[in-house]
Amino acid sequence: MRVLFVCLGNICRSPAAEGVMKSIAAGTPIEIASAGTAGYHTGELPDPRMRSHAKKRGIELTSRARQFDPSRDFERFDMIIAMDDSNLRDLRDMDRSKKYHSKLSKMTDHCRTMEADHVPDPYYGGPEGFDHVLDILEDACAGLLEKIRK
Ligand code: 4NP
Repeated sequence: MRVLFVCLGNICRSPAAEGVMKSIAAGTPIEIASAGTAGYHTGELPDPRMRSHAKKRGIELTSRARQFDPSRDFERFDMIIAMDDSNLRDLRDMDRSKKYHSKLSKMTDHCRTMEADHVPDPYYGGPEGFDHVLDILEDACAGLLEKIRK
């Protein structure tokens, strides 16, 4: 099973999702990665604010940003999970044939207890936005792992 988390810049939400999922799925054969629909932060570490908030929860974010590659990623990954409706729309648009639409979902579809319909972009907001993102991601990753296990 290969899981790819996708946001816009691949420096806040999807690398955090990758880090949270890797921490709770440690020891399983699940392959976990992340990418952005845009490429303007390619090669960068996650945003320092996201890294420091994750670190307080014991999660180190060490991935490097990369852009989603439709020519490889649709085929390679079994689940491609978007952080918000805009990311999901962009992914659907890149899958012209609709061959991979069944692999696509939104992160909040996997939540167990949090009431959210998307993972809000924390980039232009204050510190509480990063904690809110992590709260949603921890809940959604737990739900996702449970689904994968079944
Ligand atoms: P992300 O957040 O999609 O969660 O990585 C963003 C990061 C950077 C930008 C937008 C969103 N940006 O416009 O540079």
